[in-house]
Amino acid sequence: MKTAPRSFVIVDGTAGASLRHVVTALEGLTAAVTLTDQAKDQAMQRTQLRTTQLGATGLEITRVGFGAWAIGGGGWEFGWGPQEDEESIAAIHRALELGVNWIDTAAAYGFGRSERVVGRALEGLAERPYVFTKASLVEGPGRRVVHNLKRDSILREVETSLDRLGVEAIDLYQIHWPIPEEDIDEGWAAFAELKEQGFVRHIGVSNFSTEQLRRIQSIAPVETLQPPYSLIDRDAENEILRYAERERIGVIIYSPMASGLLTGRMTRDRIAHLPDDDWRKHDPRFREPQLSRHLDLVERLKTVAGRHDTTPGAVAIAWTVRNPAVDGAIAGFRRADQVDPILTAATIELTDDEVDEIEAEN
Ligand SMILES: NC(=O)c1ccc[n+]([C@@H]2O[C@H](COP(=O)([O-])OP(=O)(O)OC[C@H]3O[C@@H](n4cnc5c(N)ncnc54)[C@H](OP(=O)(O)O)[C@@H]3O)[C@@H](O)[C@H]2O)c1
Repeated sequence: MKTAPRSFVIVDGTAGASLRHVVTALEGLTAAVTLTDQAKDQAMQRTQLRTTQLGATGLEITRVGFGAWAIGGGGWEFGWGPQEDEESIAAIHRALELGVNWIDTAAAYGFGRSERVVGRALEGLAERPYVFTKASLVEGPGRRVVHNLKRDSILREVETSLDRLGVEAIDLYQIHWPIPEEDIDEGWAAFAELKEQGFVRHIGVSNFSTEQLRRIQSIAPVETLQPPYSLIDRDAENEILRYAERERIGVIIYSPMASGLLTGRMTRDRIAHLPDDDWRKHDPRFREPQLSRHLDLVERLKTVAGRHDTTPGAVAIAWTVRNPAVDGAIAGFRRADQVDPILTAATIELTDDEVDEIEAEN
């Protein structure tokens, strides 16, 4: 495989002292940033898994990355019910052991908990994976999400994320949601500043429309896009994936197994017994009239999985990375035993007949 570039702008000093550095560097009051050709926290560059270029970033990523939403646990607006941090760390370590070379998290996941757990999992590793995180969703009253794309809020967020993750610089920093619409430009300009100063290495967006992407491209190039994409959510095919491919924007897609719905383990009985603070319990995709259609799809995935000696979840992910615009799929894991059965997705070659068979009723 090719290796990632070794020249990074990195921040001098410890990540814990970063806010002062972020602010002072951005205000030009002091030279808090130094250039070096050897990042102190060099990301993992060797893996036995198949890799691909993430757009024009120069990052060489495995086709499947570790999604850290669920390990943010329960007790917030989009929580996943109870979660043991030790189990989360074991899941991350298992994924890294198998060669996964990137993790996608967000400050919003458990309002810092997911980033803290990722930081703990990375402590003491000789080589760490690429760390991607996001900003723009902050904690509001009642542990509900509030959207904020103001520059000062983004600067506060990056400082806390660097601190929690314990890294010198974030490999990919993404705007989580383009809300509020009128602040998108201000938020993106702040992201461009952070990149210029070396606090983050690459910048991208999530959940943006093509129109919104075009709009911010004039402020700074959008390096990556993170849209939802799965067999039950194919909207991205309409326009945005083609646009990203044409513009050489790297694409990592989220919820490839429809947040667990396509794994074969999500039964009617399990849904009925999901804890109240698991957002899926209240989501229409997990309820009738949609649920029957989704469970029928799972049956078709099981048939194809049987032929490849793999799992329905792995086939669902393999289907997403067939799209030529998609560089990587972000798969969420909460326990170590969930990782192995899904990672084969990177190697499954679905035939056109199998794709027709899977898509038949959708
Ligand atoms: N940018 C955004 O707005 C956005 C939005 C959503 C997601 N994301 C990113 O994308 C990542 C992935 O999306 P996602 O977490 O929604 O869903 P996903 O990858 O489609 O599904 C993940 C869930 O499937 C279940 N699962 C995983 N492996 C399994 C196995 N081997 N057997 C049975 N069940 C298994 C787990 O939940 P259970 O065990 O509880 O069933 C897991 O949390 C997130 O972690 C996050 O990083 C980003």
